Amino acid sequence: MTRIRIRPATVLAGLVLVAGLAALLTPAAPVVAEDKKPDIFYVPTPQEVVEKMLELAEVKKDDVVYDLGCGDGRIVVTAAKKYGCKAWGFDVDPARIKDSLENVKTNKVEDLVTIEKKDIFTLDLSKANVITLYLLRDLNTRLIPQIDKMKAGCRIVSHAFDMEGVTPDKEVKVETKGSGTKTVYLWTTPLKKKKD
Ligand SMILES: C[S@@+](CC[C@H](N)C(=O)[O-])C[C@H]1O[C@@H](n2cnc3c(N)ncnc32)[C@H](O)[C@@H]1O
Repeated sequence: MTRIRIRPATVLAGLVLVAGLAALLTPAAPVVAEDKKPDIFYVPTPQEVVEKMLELAEVKKDDVVYDLGCGDGRIVVTAAKKYGCKAWGFDVDPARIKDSLENVKTNKVEDLVTIEKKDIFTLDLSKANVITLYLLRDLNTRLIPQIDKMKAGCRIVSHAFDMEGVTPDKEVKVETKGSGTKTVYLWTTPLKKKKD
């Protein structure tokens, strides 16, 4: 009787071939981008400051307001309720998106306010007339290339933090009931860049 000897190297080569074929035939798993972490943690703007930011930006019914890093959605909800304008809130934190959506629902402004889970540094700002910010100075500064692409006459208001290399049109102080005095900055597009 003829004995067939299978050598270990042959077995190994077979296994490698089967594994390779299996890998080729298995549909590729979708590439899931890792969730973007917030660049700054959540601290809400006191309501008196929210009101002042929108007043300083001279928000009108026809305006489109974007809050970049919308937290619980208080700025976009206030803009919609007080001025009847459309407003978009963007945040990367799922907990903040949930809070904002609840806030929109509670205040019945679903027809005016949209909340989206997006990294603000990837946004096209060309549809907005008003941008509201409560971030940090270096984050405001990182937004300049996006703001530079906006139409002329858009207003940008920021709670507490200015923007490096850009002169604000106004800088006002707001007294709050429980959080002391806060500063709000206003810029209009095109931004007034400081000369070196
Ligand atoms: C200081 S809070 C301001 C919240 C709200 N705008 C307000 O004034 O009450 C900053 C918010 O920005 C969000 N945030 C941080 N980095 C972000 C990014 N790259 N894209 C979108 N949202 C971001 C945080 O999750 C947080 O809710």
